[in-house]
Amino acid sequence: MTKKYKLIGPITQLVSMEELSAKGAITDEQLSIVENAGILIEEDHIHTVGKFSDLKKQVDTLDTEIIELQASYICTPGFIDAHTHICFSGSRAKDYAMRNAGKSYLEIAEAGGGIWDTVTQTRKAEQQELTCGTIKRANKLLKKGITTIEVKSGYGLSVPEELKMLRAIKNANQQTEADLIPTCLAGHMLPKDFDGDHKEYLEAMSNSLFPILKEEKLTNRIDAFIEKSAFLPTDIYPYFRKAKALGFDITVHADQFSIGGSEVAVKMNAISADHLEASTEDEIEMLANSNVVSVALPGASIGLGCNFTPARKILNAGGSVAIASDWNPGSAPMGDLLTQACILGTFEKLTNAEIMAGITFRAAAALNLSDRGRVIKGMLADFNLFQTDHFNEIFYHQGKLVPTQVWKRGELVYKQ
Ligand code: NIG
Ligand code: FE
Repeated sequence: MTKKYKLIGPITQLVSMEELSAKGAITDEQLSIVENAGILIEEDHIHTVGKFSDLKKQVDTLDTEIIELQASYICTPGFIDAHTHICFSGSRAKDYAMRNAGKSYLEIAEAGGGIWDTVTQTRKAEQQELTCGTIKRANKLLKKGITTIEVKSGYGLSVPEELKMLRAIKNANQQTEADLIPTCLAGHMLPKDFDGDHKEYLEAMSNSLFPILKEEKLTNRIDAFIEKSAFLPTDIYPYFRKAKALGFDITVHADQFSIGGSEVAVKMNAISADHLEASTEDEIEMLANSNVVSVALPGASIGLGCNFTPARKILNAGGSVAIASDWNPGSAPMGDLLTQACILGTFEKLTNAEIMAGITFRAAAALNLSDRGRVIKGMLADFNLFQTDHFNEIFYHQGKLVPTQVWKRGELVYKQ
């Protein structure tokens, strides 16, 4: 018979992320670390964190399974990838090669590349095929310790095709141990086959798609790409206002190549503003003085060969920075959160504590989730065990040190 509680330990260092602030810079010295720790799990959540030896004495072995670790482990919260596009079909390897050979955005689009290419491929795919692809990618992330993954639509760009993507994501969520958090990105670009302008497209989508998203509980998040090549702030305000009136959370693809998006995010009280590679001092100040979480996407900078998000400046100005992979077939094909977060850390001079915060509790905040991101009493029992003797090793290996055990909702879901 399975017992109600599980006690795991001893853990050499448990990096709980307890009491670290939602915003601003964090030094490594501020990290609260429990040494020789134990985690008492009750069903899907954490009942208590403490010294393993104390907990072992306190628990009743009749209803507690004791899992005694035989090597040195470091425990971190389950990582959270707060921005991905892992529901897609096709490859854009040709775009990548052309980009590196010096071709422009326009030349790539004219050769049949760009977002529209993925829209075409994704529209051709059956819903089931998209579900399978999403599960496969989600499981790849799960093995690297990512227990919560945001997944966007945005390669459908019509009511039935966006629904197909979001239903595929919903089905995938039921078939992977990771939690998938869906987001509607119908505002990714004006589809080439839409008979009307940007405003008319967004109006059609908000009128016809939003009510179905609510009805089928497909998502509670609406995203849009604010950029000259996609949608302008003036197009987006009415779209976001409608979304907010229906109770959706807002998130924005902002300031990737030119500014404008972060201002919309702040004015609309968005949960997060993602990208920000082009943000200037004014945008940094504005974001830092708001409750919008800035999401850095180093995978897009590495994929495109562009600037990194000014994460150091945002943190120094008092803002909140999460870090996500942006895994997509175009700008960010790598899909490796920990590696990318570590690389961002070296270029932006982020402390290990800030990197960890960016992929744990600050990433949870970017998804408006308060039940995960720290290994403390009451949170979901989502955590990783790395077989090593100091938490610094995790960042030092730049993603090459992967978890030996991944725990999700109180269950061991991956063991190396
Ligand atoms: O976050 N910036 C816009 N959208 C995606 C790219 C999607 C694609 O190229 O397919 C991004 O980088
Ligand atoms: Fe993106």
